[in-house]
Amino acid sequence: MNTDDQGKRDGFTSRFGIIAAAAGSAIGLGNIWRFPYVAGENGGGAFLLVYLSFVLVLGIPVMLSEFVIGRKAKKNAFGAIRSIAPGTWWPVIGIMGIVAAFVILAFYSTIAGWTLHYVYLSLINGFKGHDSESLGIIFNEFMVSGAMPLFWQMVFLVLTAVIILSGVRKGIEKYSKILMPFLLLLLLGLCVRSLTLPGAMEGISFLFKPDFSKINPAVILSALGQAAFSLSIGMGALITYASYFPKETNLSNTAFEVSIADVIIAILAGVAIFPAVFALGMEPDGGVGLIFMVLPNVFQQMPGGYFFALAFFVLLSIAAVTSSISIMEVVVAFLVEEFQLKRRQATFITLVAAAFVGVFCTLSWGALEGVTIGGMNIFDSLDYAASSILLPLGGLLIVLFVGWYMTNTQVEQELSNAGQVKVRLFKVFNFIIRFIAPIAIAIIFLNGIGFIR
Ligand code: TRP
Repeated sequence: MNTDDQGKRDGFTSRFGIIAAAAGSAIGLGNIWRFPYVAGENGGGAFLLVYLSFVLVLGIPVMLSEFVIGRKAKKNAFGAIRSIAPGTWWPVIGIMGIVAAFVILAFYSTIAGWTLHYVYLSLINGFKGHDSESLGIIFNEFMVSGAMPLFWQMVFLVLTAVIILSGVRKGIEKYSKILMPFLLLLLLGLCVRSLTLPGAMEGISFLFKPDFSKINPAVILSALGQAAFSLSIGMGALITYASYFPKETNLSNTAFEVSIADVIIAILAGVAIFPAVFALGMEPDGGVGLIFMVLPNVFQQMPGGYFFALAFFVLLSIAAVTSSISIMEVVVAFLVEEFQLKRRQATFITLVAAAFVGVFCTLSWGALEGVTIGGMNIFDSLDYAASSILLPLGGLLIVLFVGWYMTNTQVEQELSNAGQVKVRLFKVFNFIIRFIAPIAIAIIFLNGIGFIR
């Protein structure tokens, strides 16, 4: 994908390929690992409600804005904005995106590495005969152990780099198209099992019954961060992907469909997790290890649990790869197009740099446990820096750019494919990206970091 060494731009081929690639970016660990644990730590139902409203009112418009920029300019995030707004400071959005990409790659590959290790554990039937308590011990010993998590993290990063090198049609499109529907089916199976465990209903009310006393500015900011993270918005990943969209792609429909699919997967992950958490007598605020401690237990109580577990962790790893390639591609496309590097060189540099930051992240529960930034360990502070700072600010700048710098005509031209498709709700979209989204994001951000009260 992207510009090859002869300067020809590769691109996505079919309509379903585009949705699959954008959905492949959006759907990943953010939905299945991050959503349940963050919702669990932030009170459940009320968090879900705030998160859903943010996806609808802020997330979809930001995603659409990224699509507009990317497909109009057909360049990497930095180059795209510079070509639309030459000689201005707007391209700084692209630089922030590069920083965010490294931050996210670092901690994303940590968790993806854990997922790979759980593929291995499933394969050797390593959960068999263990109860919740000993599954917790297995997880905790692994997480702090250093060598193994580092090994799997590197495997994951190399895998991502290899797919980045193999190009759009052969890589991303082919894999995501076939495999994601299977993930959905497995998740449904997990939901059924989880819901039929004794005591499951407590989990359902935790997830769906909002308790508004749990809401505070920090919770609201993490809901915004979760929405941005899960939709892959705010750092130019979707600017980059949209630069490979053909001119026939209906941008609004794509943004809508991808966001809905993303939300559905997150909710299903919640329905798979929380009933089991309560049925097993565990706590919903178990933190980053939540799915790794809970799900192996659920698998053991299913007929064919061995295969279910194996298939689930394999597909989750694939979902993680299709997301991480969209993160790495932001940097690679930037290096290739702005510094005239060969794709191979750009990928190699990105891989090495991401692996370097990633090591600190993976060791943040083990050897580097004592290192804290702002009271958080390295992992949590990188996650916070990305989801609660860089992505909201990136999203804010992106809507300001499309809403105030680009002209209505430019935006409408792009949304309508130069008059080929009807643009419904343009006024609503325009009003949101000019007024609602910037003001809302600014207030949520300043409130959430404790700057205004
Ligand atoms: N959305 C992905 C997930 O949920 C992660 C991701 C991919 C991402 N690309 C991104 C997050 C760009 C933020 C920005 O797993």
